[in-house]
Amino acid sequence: MPTQTLTRQDVLDILEIARFAPSVHNTQPWKVSWSDTSVTVSLDPEHLLSDGDPTGRETIISLGIFTEAIVIAAKKCGFESKSVSYKDKSSVIVLTKKSSTPSDSQTVALLTQRCTDRSIYTHTEITATTPEDIKKSGREKDVSVWVTTDEATIQKTAQLTSQGIGVALSSPNFRKELSSYLAEPWSRSNRGISVNSLYIPKIIAYLEPIFMRLGIGLGAEVKLEKRRWLSASGIVFIAAKGDMPEYWFQVGRDYLRISLQIERAGLSQATSAATVEASNFHEDIEEMLGTDYRLQCVIRFGNGKKSRAYSPRISAEALLST
Ligand SMILES: Cc1cc2nc3c(=O)[nH]c(=O)nc-3n(C[C@H](O)[C@H](O)[C@H](O)COP(=O)(O)O)c2cc1C
Repeated sequence: MPTQTLTRQDVLDILEIARFAPSVHNTQPWKVSWSDTSVTVSLDPEHLLSDGDPTGRETIISLGIFTEAIVIAAKKCGFESKSVSYKDKSSVIVLTKKSSTPSDSQTVALLTQRCTDRSIYTHTEITATTPEDIKKSGREKDVSVWVTTDEATIQKTAQLTSQGIGVALSSPNFRKELSSYLAEPWSRSNRGISVNSLYIPKIIAYLEPIFMRLGIGLGAEVKLEKRRWLSASGIVFIAAKGDMPEYWFQVGRDYLRISLQIERAGLSQATSAATVEASNFHEDIEEMLGTDYRLQCVIRFGNGKKSRAYSPRISAEALLST
């Protein structure tokens, strides 16, 4: 007889899929616990970003992403999510066993195979339905999504993003913290951004953590970021009605749905928090969009690399026991 309650093995099976969820700097700051009927995700204080994310916005967005990944994974494992709630920097997903196991293999495959592609994209025609499909994948109540392929908007966003990255990288503490989350191919760490995913010459990529810490090549980094964003065939803007953790969490859930929809369309994607976090650049974008909602995420998409550079993940066991 199948059990009606969640077992440790059920939770491990769910986490085996959900652990591929993206997070800011790939910090994966999750502590997962469970009861007979629910999974709770709280934050691991050891992996919060004091300089990269002082307000906690990027981390709570990431928590929303991870929570949505659990919902997707649970469905594949035969559980339906009855409710999802956010409170005090934790999320609770209430799950019930379904009598017949629904197969959601395609979404699970998209989740486990997606990645951030920071290469310079080559031009591709975006089919007419793609922006609408991406927009429709956002479903949260207080969140709005814009998808544009407009050249002038792409140029303006590229300009603001590179300025924003310039501001962020001018902080030695920001750079130091980021460099500790850059993962070399020989690194044994299972957190952080793979330097291979930066798509810069290998020798520079291997030295990147040192360069980043010392602030070497910052001007080149700003220029490169501009070229990356100028190469986009389209951009997604996600904004929320307010700028508090409850809204950030909703944004995260939509972020994952949107990210998977971009994958489904066979396109590459990358994101930057620069315009959201640095200075008042978000106001320029909000004005451009004509909204009083607060900008929360910006994602570029287009025709990227065929080969994929994956960043590491911590194991399901480690998520449960940390
Ligand atoms: C909320 C959030 C903010 C992010 N901000 C940035 C960013 O500013 N710049 C960047 O290059 N990547 C950014 N990323 C991408 C993460 O670094 C990436 O998702 C993580 O390293 C995992 O790698 P993957 O997406 O290839 O699986 C962000 C991701 C999330 C979820």
